[in-house]
Amino acid sequence: MSIARCNNVEDFRRLARRRLPAPMFNYIDGAADDEWSLKNNTRAFEKYELINRALVNVAEIDTRTHVLGCDMPMPIFLAPTGGGRLFHHNKELAAARAANKHRVLMAVSTLGTTSMEDIAKATSAPKMFQVYLHKDLGLTKELVERARASGFTSICLTVDSPVGGNRERDKRSGLTFPPKMTLATILACAIKPEWSLRFAINPEFKFANVDHALSKEGKASQGIMEYFNNQFDRTANWQGAEWLAKLWGGPFAIKGVLSAEDAKIAADSGATAIMISNHGGRQLDGSAAPVDCVRPMRDAVGRKLELIVDGGVRRGSHVVKALALGADAVSFGRPMLYSLAAGGEKGVDRMLTIMREELERDLALVGCAKVRDLNESYVRVRA
Ligand SMILES: Cc1cc2nc3c(=O)[nH]c(=O)nc-3n(C[C@H](O)[C@H](O)[C@H](O)COP(=O)(O)O)c2cc1C
Repeated sequence: MSIARCNNVEDFRRLARRRLPAPMFNYIDGAADDEWSLKNNTRAFEKYELINRALVNVAEIDTRTHVLGCDMPMPIFLAPTGGGRLFHHNKELAAARAANKHRVLMAVSTLGTTSMEDIAKATSAPKMFQVYLHKDLGLTKELVERARASGFTSICLTVDSPVGGNRERDKRSGLTFPPKMTLATILACAIKPEWSLRFAINPEFKFANVDHALSKEGKASQGIMEYFNNQFDRTANWQGAEWLAKLWGGPFAIKGVLSAEDAKIAADSGATAIMISNHGGRQLDGSAAPVDCVRPMRDAVGRKLELIVDGGVRRGSHVVKALALGADAVSFGRPMLYSLAAGGEKGVDRMLTIMREELERDLALVGCAKVRDLNESYVRVRA
């Protein structure tokens, strides 16, 4: 199968599985414990059905919106994901170039393997930098100042990771950062020669945004779970969010909120947006599907906050449902990573093209010419 024959996110997933050694594929594809939340995130969209309006002029479809202080060509953007070097030799840069082409916002993870400065050179589209409240708040502050200096347009604070989730697929596959060549890894890599050759030519793997701080501590080669468990401040509270909102002073999202009560506190703490997310099911298994939290949260905060749904979005019709339920935009992680692994920049480019086409077609079919006009009259809970 080639990229040209990928017609949906599941096709990219299958191609990624063919291209990547099993530990790397499983790192993207897996989640916490029994992976119930992972499955439920997408399944939850099936609870809602669309009610199309008839005989509406849909000759011109307008997918433009304004979220996080930026004009966007469509209400879809790339969620922050760490570890890009594991999935493609061009790492996050490949995704950034595709985002630039589509003018789509890219969120960049603290735990990326390309520095935020290099990503800023690759895309002039809006950019979000994702941070955590580190035990060393000086490091969080430094990252925020660097994001400002590099022209990032918003930041988000991930709050669903006071400790690392229990990702059993990674335990089974023995994945480490950087990947260590154990017998099992060597066998897994041997049957994926293209990926392995690229990795042998350039085995460099580093958490490019924080490598300097880790090297100072002599911990440059720690794993992502170790990073979660060693570096994040488990005593963090809403004052930390307030501090960050003031420090940044611009569009500020809190990522990983499911509770309507927390959304109200976030609004009072200086947030301008919530990314309704359970980290793609990678943290607390059993946590609610983000799409199910949209309506209660919108009811709780009114128009005080922008709401972004993140988790399980795989189809244009999922975007339509999320927005009809009250969200302002959606973002996704795995669709970007599957397409990155499947074909680098070209893969992400094609995936974004497919999502845009699906969204445009679904808006025409639902009888709503402007994405910003979607409202609850287009959706209902299935009987
Ligand atoms: C491989 C991988 C790495 C991720 N790394 C981060 C990260 O560094 N920071 C973060 O806030 N979220 C991270 N996420 C979560 C995503 O931002 C997003 O919440 C999640 O992928 C949404 O679910 P989806 O994959 O079903 O779209 C990661 C997700 C994946 C799959």
